[in-house]
Amino acid sequence: MRIFVAVGRLRLWLPTAALVMSGCGGPFPQSTLLPRSDFARATDVLFTDIFWWAAGVFLVVETLLVVTLIRFRHREGRAAPKPTHGHTLLEIAWTLAPAAILVFVAVPTVRTIFATSGEAPADALKVDVIGHQWWWELRYPDLALVTANELHVPLGRAVQLSITSADVIHAFWAPPLGGKRDAIPGHVNQIAFRADRVGDYGGQCAEFCGASHANMRLRVVVDSDSGFGRWATEQLEGPAAPAPGTIAERGKAVYARSACIGCHTIQGVSPGVIGPNLTHVGSRTTIASGLFPNDSAHLASWIADAPALKPGALMMRMKPPLSDADIAAIVAYLESLK
Ligand code: CUA
Repeated sequence: MRIFVAVGRLRLWLPTAALVMSGCGGPFPQSTLLPRSDFARATDVLFTDIFWWAAGVFLVVETLLVVTLIRFRHREGRAAPKPTHGHTLLEIAWTLAPAAILVFVAVPTVRTIFATSGEAPADALKVDVIGHQWWWELRYPDLALVTANELHVPLGRAVQLSITSADVIHAFWAPPLGGKRDAIPGHVNQIAFRADRVGDYGGQCAEFCGASHANMRLRVVVDSDSGFGRWATEQLEGPAAPAPGTIAERGKAVYARSACIGCHTIQGVSPGVIGPNLTHVGSRTTIASGLFPNDSAHLASWIADAPALKPGALMMRMKPPLSDADIAAIVAYLESLK
């Protein structure tokens, strides 16, 4: 009978365990446990250290508890064990041992806090990160370069981010590269890191900031040194002029006479500063702050009705609405802006 109950229980537990374990399969685009910079490695080492201290404490406490429960459990006819009162040595030991463990936790913690306080060497690549509802403006002051939502940084070089906000409080967080920093209007917070592996990493606004907080993503692209140089050179060039007679050229004309120009900058075409700079929008891999792939279908839906794709998006539906042909032309133009 017992064996049937055990098998029945196992049949309930196995699928549940399998379901829970399926979360361990990855990929983990926003895991803090896959560090890709000096900052992230420092916090990862600290986390691992504290984890093992906690595991050791757990093991000792639970072992003592289980041993006590078994050894002194109630048995028929046995007298109750004699309680201990006032044991100086024991009391000193259980005061000193946790204090010593806390020292081993506190010293590396404080050291890591100072090491990751945002101070970068003077030759660091400086980037101003400005949070907006719901996208990220990225300015490279030394390069006179402006882009949005996709932060490019070179491998192995110190990067200094100066983080602020244009409206409400946001928080910059690219887990593989380092900790969170609040983006507060009228105040600048610093974060510094040195990326140590080329790659394309996800990030996320980490402070509730309104309807599309969850849709305020970002990407950090760690380029090789030469790759970063190439990217910066391309970004600094003026926008490509569409070839005469193409649909992209017609798109440029539609763009230039529509409401787009009130909010977006395309160098030499429109000076708007409310929305993301579109001078090289065709070179980005995503649109809408990392929400959708940058392809013609998503661009067209975005231009037609952005708030339908991203609740609260400040980019309103155009009145009167653009025709499908006009939208297709603008899409072709934006895709040509590599
Ligand atoms: Cu911006 Cu949450």
